[in-house]
Amino acid sequence: MRTQVCIIGGGPSGLLLGKLLRNQGIDVQILERKTRDYVLGRIRAGVLEVGFVELMRLAGIAERMDKEGFTHAGTSISLNDEIFHVDFVEHTGTPVVVYGQTELTRDLYDALEADGADIHFNVDDVVIHDAKSDSPSVTYTKDGVTQRIGCDYIAGCDGFHGVSRQTIPTTVRREYEKLYPFGWLGVLSETPPVHHELIYSCSDRGFALCSMRNANLSRYYIQCSLSDSPDDWSDAAFWQELKRRIPEQFADTIVTGPSIEKSIAPLRSFVCEPMQWGRLFLCGDAAHIVPPTGAKGLNTAASDIHYLYYALLQHFKDKDSSGLEAYSAKALARIWKAERFSWSTTMMLHRFPEMNDFDLKMQVADIHFLRDNAAAQKVFAQNYVGVPY
Ligand code: APR
Ligand code: PHB
Repeated sequence: MRTQVCIIGGGPSGLLLGKLLRNQGIDVQILERKTRDYVLGRIRAGVLEVGFVELMRLAGIAERMDKEGFTHAGTSISLNDEIFHVDFVEHTGTPVVVYGQTELTRDLYDALEADGADIHFNVDDVVIHDAKSDSPSVTYTKDGVTQRIGCDYIAGCDGFHGVSRQTIPTTVRREYEKLYPFGWLGVLSETPPVHHELIYSCSDRGFALCSMRNANLSRYYIQCSLSDSPDDWSDAAFWQELKRRIPEQFADTIVTGPSIEKSIAPLRSFVCEPMQWGRLFLCGDAAHIVPPTGAKGLNTAASDIHYLYYALLQHFKDKDSSGLEAYSAKALARIWKAERFSWSTTMMLHRFPEMNDFDLKMQVADIHFLRDNAAAQKVFAQNYVGVPY
């Protein structure tokens, strides 16, 4: 088998790249380790920067997002019972769109399948060969049979635990990481959201977030200990703790109900440099992870796809490889900004075990500065809606 771009990973990164390239007549093969239903079963954030929204439109798959997504003009931030609003539209002219990653991934799968794209599910033993040569290939096994795909380029879109990043020799690869001493316990419930926008809440008992998927599907999180398991938290205990961490006006009005999903995610900042090795290009979670506080996971994947898509287009249409050569530096320059925003927002809103009284005063001053200073709010808004590509 031969293709122009072999895409490893059928998550949002791989699917979006695949759709964009196919629209330009560039041939792709997509390899996914799991099933479509498994990929769609993962619950992830769904706050889309304007750049992501535009890529979905460019890919021709924005119809449902434009119809069913919610436009959020800003967000609320609270410190115990105090609450203030940061207006994205006022400060940047741009809102964000709330549209669940599950829905977005479903739209991508539907569009690719309608196109007749080659997506190989349930593949094992994916190995990248000769990435530093002019004729790389990827082998995998499916139903016990080994297959080989020869290609021009490989897009490593296989997430944090994939094989692509590991293919870059450790002599070349440098990894930067920060682990945070807590996790987020998330609950999905078929209840109306407590507020029409998100509420990021810093409280003496730890962080909480009120988010949503649609008018009758809410997503809430509380900061928890890394040693906790979701089974330690009954629904009643979760709601009680959430209510203690959000301003009273919302604690009094929140509609609670049975959880339909409950899970704990650890928080991590991670970047791999470089994001290119020969003809292998890393995108999305394969190259970097952010803590979820700024909702940047999916959006950082989108900016990689933007850069790689235009670089591949330039190569295949204009025979100009300068975009491909610049990919890693360009993508990383934006990634580090998103890393900084996600890290600083995490620091501003969470309770760290080692914090002393001075640290606590600094945290309050940080939040009050944002509350009281229009320039600080503008910077926050610019980061939240996404810095330009
Ligand atoms: N071979 C083939 N596929 C693989 C392999 C492998 N060896 N390893 C992992 N995969 C698949 C996973 O099963 C997954 O479906 O690659 C896909 C990677 O998808 P994500 O982890 O979602 O990463 P990405 O597409 O970069 O999306 C980034 O979406 O999932 C969120 O938290 C993530 O928000 C971030 C964004
Ligand atoms: C979510 O809705 O799951 C969500 C929203 C915003 C975040 C993180 C998660 O910052």
